[in-house]
Amino acid sequence: MPKTKTIKKIAVLTSGGDSPGMNAAIRAVTRKAIVNGMEVVGVQKGYQGLLEEEFIDFSMRSVSDTIQRGGTILRTARSEEFKSDEGKKKAAEICREYKIDAVVVIGGDGSYKGALGLSHEGIAVMGLPGTIDLDIACTDYTIGFDTAVNTALEAIDKIRDTSTSHERCSIVEVMGRNAGYIALWCGVASGAEDILIPEKYTYDEQDIINHIIESRKIGKTHHLIINAEGIGHSTSMARRIEAATGMETRATILGYMQRGGSPTCKDRYYASIMGAMASDLLYEGKINRVIGYRNGEFTDFDIDEALSMTKSISEYQYDIARVLAH
Ligand code: F6P
Repeated sequence: MPKTKTIKKIAVLTSGGDSPGMNAAIRAVTRKAIVNGMEVVGVQKGYQGLLEEEFIDFSMRSVSDTIQRGGTILRTARSEEFKSDEGKKKAAEICREYKIDAVVVIGGDGSYKGALGLSHEGIAVMGLPGTIDLDIACTDYTIGFDTAVNTALEAIDKIRDTSTSHERCSIVEVMGRNAGYIALWCGVASGAEDILIPEKYTYDEQDIINHIIESRKIGKTHHLIINAEGIGHSTSMARRIEAATGMETRATILGYMQRGGSPTCKDRYYASIMGAMASDLLYEGKINRVIGYRNGEFTDFDIDEALSMTKSISEYQYDIARVLAH
């Protein structure tokens, strides 16, 4: 393993789903590393690009005009080959061949698992939390979540206007295959009557139907349901709800429009600080860490420890959502 101040060349890649703010992170990693005297290569298309040696030598100017852009300038991929032991061995050999001492991985916890595997093959790694889903246990913030929820909320507000005007029920499906953070935040912030998230949903549609009937009785003119992608089936759910309640019900699936787009100020700021920290930690010889934001501070954790942590949706916050939508 490299010792203190022996990391001379780093690679940076984005992996898994893209998220707004990834470019700000790439820019910060690159510029801080160069200022620290390190060489930087950008790896295109995540771990797959690493296996295919898709490297670009980065200078200060390589990351110009990127901070405001959504997506990832490095592109991203999900690599089956890298998941295997042979894949990780091959990636480590390629790093040694190119004299890459450390790889900075911007992605979700699946990408962190890949990074941990690479560290076991003798390549130093550093993780940055890049996912719109907020589902990385060691951190209260992930790069892209803020933009995603604000993009989704803007759309939900518009749907709500139409829903109210026509006295309809609207089901809006937001992203989050395994995690309900986007749905919870958008649900609370839009005043949704029901929020369906994979962590809590009981699959009892009658409960929703009863809620709609009760709400109508107390004078509510519309009913907004935020449904997480992990539960899905919004269109057929709308048909069943309409049949059972008599209330006209429409489903809207927001999809990828909430994953792209120009990052918010918060996502640019946090990604910039985290990216710079990643390069500074490597410069100081601190390796196999992941950066997080916890209790109001930017911090770092051992990658192994970070992957063993768990986090869950707060019962209180979930329960209060329904009370506030009365
Ligand atoms: O980036 C996170 C996410 O949007 C999840 O909410 C979703 O489960 C997943 O990515 C879907 O990604 P893709 O459609 O690219 O496989």
